[in-house]
Amino acid sequence: MSAPHPVTVSLDTLASLAKRRGFVYPGSEIYGGLANTWDFGPLGAELKRNIKQAWWEFFIQRREDMVGLDGGILLHPRVWEASGHVAEFNDPLIDCRNCKSRFRADTFVEERLGISAEGLSVEELTRLIEEYQPACPVCGQRNWTPVRRFNLMFKTFIGPVEEQSAQVYLRPETAQAIFVNFKQVLQSSRQKIPFGIGQIGKAFRNEITPGNFIFRLLEFEQMEIEYFIRPESWEAAFEHWLAEMGQFFARIGLRAERLRLREHSPHELSHYSKRTVDYEYLFPFGWKELAGLAYRTDYDLRRHQEYSGEDLSYFDQERNERFIPHVIEPTMGVERLFLALLVDAYDEEPAVDVNGKPYTRVVLRFHPRIAPYKAAVLPLMRKPELVEKARAVAALLRNHFMIEYDETQSIGRRYRRQDEIGTPYCITIDYQTLDDDTVTIRDRDTMAQDRVAISALPHVLAERLGYGA
Ligand code: GAP
Repeated sequence: MSAPHPVTVSLDTLASLAKRRGFVYPGSEIYGGLANTWDFGPLGAELKRNIKQAWWEFFIQRREDMVGLDGGILLHPRVWEASGHVAEFNDPLIDCRNCKSRFRADTFVEERLGISAEGLSVEELTRLIEEYQPACPVCGQRNWTPVRRFNLMFKTFIGPVEEQSAQVYLRPETAQAIFVNFKQVLQSSRQKIPFGIGQIGKAFRNEITPGNFIFRLLEFEQMEIEYFIRPESWEAAFEHWLAEMGQFFARIGLRAERLRLREHSPHELSHYSKRTVDYEYLFPFGWKELAGLAYRTDYDLRRHQEYSGEDLSYFDQERNERFIPHVIEPTMGVERLFLALLVDAYDEEPAVDVNGKPYTRVVLRFHPRIAPYKAAVLPLMRKPELVEKARAVAALLRNHFMIEYDETQSIGRRYRRQDEIGTPYCITIDYQTLDDDTVTIRDRDTMAQDRVAISALPHVLAERLGYGA
């Protein structure tokens, strides 16, 4: 199904297609919108579901050494003290004293002063801003507060009376539920080290500079693995998981030439990491982090052992040895992968419609594994005998695949819609179908059509979609 992809799409074009076709809507729009929030429409919900399913199948179902978990969004507040998030999970901010606009100080210094802010302390950032006195991009004044740290965790309360209630956090990463449940999973699942626990779930971050469509969100889903190992095997495990991540990206059709690896410098490393490598993707706004792989050492389990008083060590029976497992963490965001897949799939090409009129064909060349609909069933015209037959074919296929049925507009326009939402195959019911029970199948990428017997359709479609591969 692969075809050349010559087009680099702008974010505006993508966002407008995504809205028009029902992938992504601006959040709470009937109330005037809620800045930096998004809702996923019928096609977006399918795409997300397919991404998550592909991840689960590849990283958990396929492997003997992996199990899943579905931990809570609300965890004991001490979890975030132990994890270091209360003390360390913050961004440096500055405020304009005149218009009260707020900016992330490190990106501000990089973008406005052209100076690398990597690893700079709050004091150093403040000194740079005092020295260069940049103008506020909103009001033009040069009156800045000192740089301050701002924790990214959202807070909420358990209990009806806010003042007397326990303050808790919405989790900023799914990882901690895995660490907190490590011992229970070990006891209930009969796994032995090395093994991993994977989880998909929402995470929340009060980001100061969200933006770039759905790239940086306040609320997003993570797909994370904590892989528990003996400390001396961390380098081999790191390489293994780096390769696994690359294979997963290939499996869902991401173009290799738009992916690259980036090693974190020592200044950049998160408070828990000894080594981090990002998979970066070439987004329309440049190379940016798509996913990460971190060597978290025994930091998390050790800290939770310390803060909870529970023994979180592991006993290796073969070696008769007790130790705190070390951890390799492959992690990626669902929406960020969603955006990369949209960018990657987008293509435009000159084409001629069924009436011989030239037009620009917009096509999302999704890998069939992640395409929202696997096929569309279309009666050639809205005639009762064709509609009845087409509905019967759609019902047959719905037992196996996510199918769209569409009888509106001309056949040419319906093909265009399916191209634009990335449906790999269009199945058309015409008058010949009524005679011999065959239909045409149109291939999204080549636009070639052939005839297939209805009785063979589920099998033929499964084969062409690459099921079982
Ligand atoms: N447990 C490790 C961890 O949370 P991270 O690099 O902060 O590491 C992991 O996040 C992944 O989650 C990122 O690679 C990215 O895909 C996604 N992600 C992080 N922050 C995000 C945000 N504000 N909006 C959307 N996705 C985000």
